[in-house]
Amino acid sequence: MKFRLVFSLVLLCLAVPSAHAGSSNSLLDVSPDGKFLLAANRDNGTVTVVDTVTRKVLREITVGEKPECVSWIGTGPRAVVTLYEDSALVFFDADTGTISKKLQVSAEPYGIVADREGRTGWVTHEYPGTISTIDLQNESLIRETKAGSHLRGIALADDGRRVYVSEFYTGILLAFDVAGQKVVDSWKGHSTDNLSRHVLLHPTRPKAYLAHIRSIVAVNNGSGSIFPQLSICDLNPGEDRRRVSFGMDTFNGVYVTTNPWESAISSDGKRFYLIYAGTDDINVCRVIDDDYKEIEAVGLPRQIGHNPRAIRLSPDNQLVYIYNAMDFAVAVHQADTMKLLDKIQVCAPPMTPEWVRGKVLFNSAKPPMTSRRWIACASCHPDGHSDGRVWQQPEGLRKTTSLFGVAHTHPLHWSADRDEAQDFEYTIRSQLMQSRTGLAPGPFKGKVGFDKVELTEKTSGRSKDLDALAIYNNSFDFPLSPNILAPGKLPPAAARGKEVFARKDVNCASCHGGPYFTDSSLEKPFKLHDVGTGNDDPTEKMGPLYDTPTLLGIYRTAPYLHHGKAKTLHDVLTIYNKGDKHGKTSQLTTEELDDLVAFLQALPYETPPSVTPNTVSYRVQPAKK
Ligand code: HEC
Ligand code: HEC
Repeated sequence: MKFRLVFSLVLLCLAVPSAHAGSSNSLLDVSPDGKFLLAANRDNGTVTVVDTVTRKVLREITVGEKPECVSWIGTGPRAVVTLYEDSALVFFDADTGTISKKLQVSAEPYGIVADREGRTGWVTHEYPGTISTIDLQNESLIRETKAGSHLRGIALADDGRRVYVSEFYTGILLAFDVAGQKVVDSWKGHSTDNLSRHVLLHPTRPKAYLAHIRSIVAVNNGSGSIFPQLSICDLNPGEDRRRVSFGMDTFNGVYVTTNPWESAISSDGKRFYLIYAGTDDINVCRVIDDDYKEIEAVGLPRQIGHNPRAIRLSPDNQLVYIYNAMDFAVAVHQADTMKLLDKIQVCAPPMTPEWVRGKVLFNSAKPPMTSRRWIACASCHPDGHSDGRVWQQPEGLRKTTSLFGVAHTHPLHWSADRDEAQDFEYTIRSQLMQSRTGLAPGPFKGKVGFDKVELTEKTSGRSKDLDALAIYNNSFDFPLSPNILAPGKLPPAAARGKEVFARKDVNCASCHGGPYFTDSSLEKPFKLHDVGTGNDDPTEKMGPLYDTPTLLGIYRTAPYLHHGKAKTLHDVLTIYNKGDKHGKTSQLTTEELDDLVAFLQALPYETPPSVTPNTVSYRVQPAKK
């Protein structure tokens, strides 16, 4: 009996080269024997080890800032986690909770996959766009290779010869040859494809699945700006139909889903699952082996927990684990019926209850945020980052800003038409989001044309939810630039550039002054400047005066200027500064310009203060030192 079981198991293994633990990036990973689950808690800086038999938390291990992906090493108990903000990998033993090594790596490690034996791992680095190869036994870096731009998703082919990675801001899939250490193939989608953070491979067919959105920047409307997509790439070499993309709104009839985040597939390749972090639901699908239709929905999407960000199956395909990030819990579902069996609390809510509420609202595309279910704040500001897009707004072209440091750099918007984060009630009630109720009760001054009515309407203190959204908005702090030698220590070119920046004749510091490199201040009248950029865009309605943006973090936020026309920092100072209205740069030598750019790319090189005279009060108050 026992022998027969083992024998059939062996057969099964031969027939189905199942996706093993850690073969695709995720905040969750199930051990190969199915007995343990790891959950990376991004906002808590911890990894939780769960016993899947008793469904109890065994331990929570503090690892570091912003863990984004966790993977077992071989059959365990060792495992590894990426720390996006610490630029490090942490190796730990899940049985004892001990950390064996914190390995410093290149900036923004996001996804990690490990081979079946637990010998080698591969990591995507977002901003530098590189892939690191890791010796998982010696816990060391083997090499790092430039592969693309803003890489996030990663999956390892079953034969171990390729890793497939995705670009966050284009959704492009790249095949990276492990032996040759180079990109050997790519699958480009539509130019509007955006925010791809995960790659999944079919266990037997040559297919890759990418959940992502489309950002339609020419449309400023609740039902036309953001679309949920699933792209499926045929991994065979060749020309035709190698990438198809399904609109997951029409896929579901009249039911709109938002912010597709991650997918999973059963090891027999028959069932496919896709979770939506904006509308809190899941699609369960049958996989169709026809190279055309690809998937077929099994019923309508089902509601799951809040802000689902990760999904994994048990090795026997009987159970589905879903990490509902804003429940701080992993839900256990029966795979065939999706019946909820259990909820395992994996960590405590971080920060404060108001921050948590604000994050829930920010990520949500459900009422009260919108009535149309298409868009969340997070569709354009994922976790406080920019979506890398320039939107055609009624007032003209507007590059999406990242929200890092906004607590200190009010007023808001390029044209300084908002002075409180609560003013985003106007966005919530606008054509873009079309909330029926808004977050705050009562009438708000109506907007006439491009009047800056938000500046005279007090929006703070009117609704707990709106204040909570503001608190979350104002909570993003800058990590240090990776382009420095050590905290406070600039490389030589940047150090020379710092002097150019400070020179009286160049004049950058007169506007980009202070620790946040801006003269933005809530003191009235606001200091707005005409730096000669107001005529570059014929659709512009509010220029030519703009609020000075912070220069911190701009090493990773191209394109530049309010209209996003400057592709590089160099372009800001040359092509877009023809008349020397934006600092005086025409007299600079090529070397001086390069040095100046090197300095800009090194910002911030020291941690800016957590309180300045311009810091707003609606935020999580920093702990007293
Ligand atoms: C369709 C994409 C999109 C959506 C959805 C969106 N934003 Fe924005 N956001 C932008 C763009 C583009 C800008 C720059 C606009 C400007 O400056 O005039 C911006 C700017 C901001 C800023 C100003 C930052 C600064 O430093 O000046 C804040 C704060 C902000 N958004 C918060 C939110 C919140 C909160 C929501 C949800 C209620 C939201 N956004 C929804 C695209 C979007
Ligand atoms: C008179 C005030 C002023 C001076 C002087 C000035 N800036 Fe600016 N800077 C601004 C304003 C205002 C903007 C936004 C303009 C726009 O978007 O159209 C800006 C935008 C920028 C940006 C683009 C940031 C982004 O996120 O897109 C960079 C980079 C920059 N400045 C660098 C510099 C450098 C370097 C100097 C010195 C050579 C300088 N600035 C001098 C006011 C100034």
